This record gives sequence, C-alpha cells and structure tokens, in this order.
Amino acid sequence: MSARYDSDFRAIFHSEDRGDLDFFRALVLATDGDLCEVGAGTGRVLLAVAPLAGTRRVFGVEPSESMRDRLVAKLASPGSPRVEVLDGSFTELPLPEASLGLVFGAFRSFQHVLTVEAQLAALDELHRVLEPGGLLALDFFDPAYHILKRSRPTLGACYGTPDGTTVERWESREVDRVAQRVDVTFRWIERRPDRSVVHDEAATYAVRYTFPNELIHLLARSGFEAIDLRGGYDGRPLGKTPRELVVTARKRPGSKAVR
Ligand SMILES: C[S@@+](CC[C@H](N)C(=O)[O-])C[C@H]1O[C@@H](n2cnc3c(N)ncnc32)[C@H](O)[C@@H]1O
Repeated sequence: MSARYDSDFRAIFHSEDRGDLDFFRALVLATDGDLCEVGAGTGRVLLAVAPLAGTRRVFGVEPSESMRDRLVAKLASPGSPRVEVLDGSFTELPLPEASLGLVFGAFRSFQHVLTVEAQLAALDELHRVLEPGGLLALDFFDPAYHILKRSRPTLGACYGTPDGTTVERWESREVDRVAQRVDVTFRWIERRPDRSVVHDEAATYAVRYTFPNELIHLLARSGFEAIDLRGGYDGRPLGKTPRELVVTARKRPGSKAVR
C-alpha cells in the first residue's frame, strides 16, 4: 500500500492538500516548543509545516518502514526542511516526557488504533510526551450511519502512470458495528493500453471509528482539557452532514484524571 500512497493520494485529491494543510500550519504557528506528527506517512503534512518551525525540533513518527523510507528519501533532496524521522507508533512514542509543545496525527492516522484499550494507551503516550498545556490535534471521519455498512467493490480512483499504464483502485468495506471497526480492502489493477493486466494486488487495512461524544470522554479520562471538536479544518461546527471530525485539546497541568 505504501508504494501506491502518494500516487493514489494525488489521483484522488489532485494535490498534496486535502484541505488540511493550512490547519496544521496554523497549529505550528500558534504553539511553541518542539513538535511531532505521529503516523507521518510519506511526509505530506510534515514537509508542508516543517518550514514554519524555525529552530524548533520537528519529529515524524511512523511505524511502517516503507513509509518511513519514502519520507527519508524526500528529506534527502536539496532544500528540504529539517525533520527527524523515528520508528514508533501512537502507543510507543520514542520521545521523552514533557518534551513537545505540539503533537498531532493527520489524515485519520489515529483511527488505526483499533480498540478502546489501545486508544487509552495511545492517549496516555500523547499526554506523556506533551508539556503541560501542550496541544494535541487529531482528525477522524465523523461516523455517518449511511456509509458505515458493508460495500461491494467499487471503482474509487483511476489514473495514468508515467509508464503509460492505467491504475484502477477498487475499494470494498466490511463493518463491525460493535467493535466500531471498518476493514477496507483496496485492489489495484494496473493495465496496459490494450487492457492487459500488468499488476493485480490487494491489501486490507482496519480503522476504528469514534463518535464525537465518545472522543470527549476518552480525552477527559486521559488528562486533556480545552477539548474542541470541529466539523472541518476550517473550524466549522460539527454539522448535519458528517464528514470530518477534527479535535484539539490541551494537556491538563497537574495530575491526570482518575479513570
Ligand atoms: C492515511 S495515512 C496518513 C499519512 C500522513 N499523516 C498524511 O496525512 O498523508 C495513515 C498513517 O498512519 C500510520 N499508522 C498506522 N497505524 C499506526 C499507529 N498505530 N500509530 C501511528 N501511526 C500509524 C500508517 O502507517 C500511515 O502512514
């Protein structure tokens, strides 16, 4: 999947920006201290925000070796910003206690944390690495009942490659409503102009969906305050048409809440 990430992204959004980059840039400008993106992927967001960080240290934590390799390769090109790329995950952050002014996950990376226990462990880690008063930002899809159901394969994207082939990306979903888990299967079929197949591969990944009020409880239990939920990166309120669920919260100074 990592090999296809950047080309799939550009085919779907026609840009490096899915409308979220200015939001994350503004967070960097509004905070002090070192900062980290968790689930940094191939660096789409980090490469856009790091130039605004001045002398602050910028970390990108990413569990997938192949995603990290792609990010490191991008950072090797001349004029790239200074970013320290680390192996780790939401539940294991390789950073000292109280070392960051800002930590964030972009494009739903926190949704790869699949159980409530793991979410609480992840929020413990995010709380641990933040300075008191430090800012956490996470984004989710706002669960919409009409989408959260099993789906047969549909053609989600189709794009040309520099080799003259065409990639079809098919997508299907299985949904477990009790676990609040969606298993998404992507199948990529790459064809020559005569429609013969060059590659045919599939991969499944799982995400957990979290409801807005559930998120408020999870964050409060985990020692966060000033919890602010929005329905988009432009700050719109959570609305009638669920789409994005963007949350910011601050590490509450003093002892953590008892669970
Ligand atoms: C949809 S991609 C987003 C990548 C990047 N943030 C962006 O906006 O383009 C989700 C990323 O989360 C990473 N990820 C998956 N499980 C994770 C975990 N438990 N902790 C941290 N990151 C995780 C994936 O490897 C992937 O790079």
